[in-house]
Amino acid sequence: RIPLVIDTDPGIDDALAVLLALASPEVELRLVTTVHGNVELDQVTENALRVLHLAGRSDVPVAAGARASLVHPQPERAGHVHGLAGLGGVELPPSPAAADPRPAVVALAETLLASPVPVTVAAIGPLTNIALLLAVYPAAADRIGRLVVMGGSASRGGNVTAAAEFNIWSDPEAARAVLGSAVPTVLVGLDVTLPTVLTETGIARFAAAGPVGRTAAAILQQYVDHARDAYGVAGVVVHDALALTEAIAPGTLGTVRRDVVVDTTLGAGRGQTLVDRRSVSSSATAVEVAETVDSDAAVEFLVSRLARLDG
Ligand code: BDR
Ligand code: CA
Repeated sequence: RIPLVIDTDPGIDDALAVLLALASPEVELRLVTTVHGNVELDQVTENALRVLHLAGRSDVPVAAGARASLVHPQPERAGHVHGLAGLGGVELPPSPAAADPRPAVVALAETLLASPVPVTVAAIGPLTNIALLLAVYPAAADRIGRLVVMGGSASRGGNVTAAAEFNIWSDPEAARAVLGSAVPTVLVGLDVTLPTVLTETGIARFAAAGPVGRTAAAILQQYVDHARDAYGVAGVVVHDALALTEAIAPGTLGTVRRDVVVDTTLGAGRGQTLVDRRSVSSSATAVEVAETVDSDAAVEFLVSRLARLDG
């Protein structure tokens, strides 16, 4: 089993991503770290604790991380997408567990250094904690076997501005440091997440499996309604769950090694991932950019795994 850490800001699709990891025998979830992002840090930390408790896994430690971006404040949270409390208006029962007293960056470093085998880190929120880890604990960062990041866009423009995807836009300076580092990184961006739609039929399948699946479906409901009303689409894009699929089953996505720079200027391009698609890169700091996906297979993987949580 691959040791796994999830750095997250739950978040509707983050909650699904954590549940997917818990449903997957290929990985062993060792730690969850939280980061400001979709909503405020205290709320995402509480949400992470409650999502783990929902799945009966309050034994997994949750360590709270950065409250704010490295340099400039994130311009806007995403309560309008995820619900003001982050989980689509669903109030999960409180966990008996409290947050780990260690700051996320310390918990991350200790978990990485304690593991005899390289650890997969799935970063599905702004990259603030990961940038801090690289700066403060470079030897621990060397223990990351694979860093799977949900963020950015190579060819589809942004989802929060014309140029930028939400996680990168939330802390472009952090993203620039992480994507410019030599940590082996897979970038799962809008190119592959947007075509991968979880339909209402798929949601109904895990909703029917039992209480955990039913609660996951309830968390998704506001998101489904929004997609139907705003875009006329019968389904939702669960970005972070696709990143977790790649973390759990490496090779799910077709990737190409590219040089990537994040725009950290303060203009209209801020937060854009500039992916050099002219050639394949051999640079040590290049990023494996996810460019192709079998969306039907990815959705089937997610749905069937989530249905197992009640099994
Ligand atoms: C990303 O932004 C957040 O709102 C989601 O949780 C996901 O991590 C998608 O752009
Ligand atoms: Ca997220």
